[in-house]
Amino acid sequence: MFFCTECGSETTKWSGKCPVCGAWNSLKETTSVTGRKNKKNKGRDIFENEPNKKPLKLKDINYTEQQRTKSGISEFDGTLGGGIIPGMVVLIGGEPGIGKSTLMLQVSDQLAHQGKSVLYISGEESEEQIKLRSQRLGCNSDNLFLYCTTDFEEIAQTIFNTEPGIVIIDSIQSMYLSTMESAPGSVSQLRECTGFFTRIAKQKNIPIFLIGHVTKGGIVAGPKIIEHMVDTVLYFEGETQNQFKILRATKNRFGSTNEIGIFEMRSTGLSEVKDPSQLFLTRENNIGSSVGCLLEGSRAFLVEVQALVSPASYGNPQRVSLGFNHRKLALLLAVIEKNLSVNLRNNDVFLNLTGGIKVTDPGLDLSIIAAIISSFKELTLPANTLLLGEVGLNGEIRPVSQTDKRIKEAKKRGYENIIISSKSKTSSKEVNIKKIKHVRQLFPILFNK
Ligand code: TYD
Ligand code: MG
Repeated sequence: MFFCTECGSETTKWSGKCPVCGAWNSLKETTSVTGRKNKKNKGRDIFENEPNKKPLKLKDINYTEQQRTKSGISEFDGTLGGGIIPGMVVLIGGEPGIGKSTLMLQVSDQLAHQGKSVLYISGEESEEQIKLRSQRLGCNSDNLFLYCTTDFEEIAQTIFNTEPGIVIIDSIQSMYLSTMESAPGSVSQLRECTGFFTRIAKQKNIPIFLIGHVTKGGIVAGPKIIEHMVDTVLYFEGETQNQFKILRATKNRFGSTNEIGIFEMRSTGLSEVKDPSQLFLTRENNIGSSVGCLLEGSRAFLVEVQALVSPASYGNPQRVSLGFNHRKLALLLAVIEKNLSVNLRNNDVFLNLTGGIKVTDPGLDLSIIAAIISSFKELTLPANTLLLGEVGLNGEIRPVSQTDKRIKEAKKRGYENIIISSKSKTSSKEVNIKKIKHVRQLFPILFNK
């Protein structure tokens, strides 16, 4: 069989381009493992054998939130949906050097302090290397056990013998099954190892965390298929050079997927960022800068948008956008040109969201437009002004989700003048709210013109 390393689809013939996802040169040959070869099951008469497992009444199944184990690192627990559930399999993806091993070692230490026995299996680093890191992090728990190997059978044996409360596998790409011919990290090894780890987790009711590397494109190196097999996928993102990292759930069978955790990498490991607004805001009122409010999961926080519009010296004008989709930027620029009689055709436009955050929330559209025209006109925006609004193709301003929550956060930070869509429903009275329908109304409000 041939497997696509990008989307995990199977084909029987090799081709240069994956017929399903369209990725180039992503099909890899692998032996496919078919069902049980056991003779006993062959042609089993389903009408003769009564299954010994009976369906349960949904309302009779016991579940309480107390079953969740909290690590005590609330940014981490929150991203998981409130804590760790017995038997859950979590994939932690992230680029090399982002801090996956650091995070999991800290989580392990916290859990071990609570009396859980934690088994940390590393196929990437030696015991001494991990010891060195643990000294930096101040991990000194009695119940944290380390085992360095890449052999799956050895790991399975150790898990069965020691019955740990939690298992960390660093990383899934380095593990291999000696019964398979392919190299560690290959599609079939990944699939089989993940499958076996999932079975151990479910059978023994042990939560297992699998650390996985991602490629530059942001997907787990190897097949997407391991994402389908696990219960929860967390991505650790952020620039490696930037000290702020965001942990984001992209799949969660035990909670919502829009929660994020924000961390800062310090010399003593990752520390939680409880107040992200402070992080992304400089509180200086500069030309080309505006402030918006983002909603990530259940949290609202303020971010600063910076734009630089300068005459293009040669060739096509450049449009560069950091932390924001460049197509969306092109769209907003077209809206500005068409509706505000601002000609940006001979200007380079650079856009940056401070703090290295990446944003998809459309509620920031209006702030981006304000930053761009502020830079173009070389005028600062009025002090303590925050903009909230999605901008449509015709320049109409649409309401953002959870307006009140965002206004509350803005007020907490001292932003008293808030510009929102005329269609927004809000009950906030303490702040000075201006409602607008169209981007054309921005000029008179922002620059008194
Ligand atoms: P690491 O957890 O090894 O990343 P990953 O497992 O995702 O590849 O750590 C990555 C970086 O973090 C490394 O370059 C060093 C830095 N770091 C700190 O700045 N402070 C610390 O206390 C630790 C342990 C690491
Ligand atoms: Mg690592």
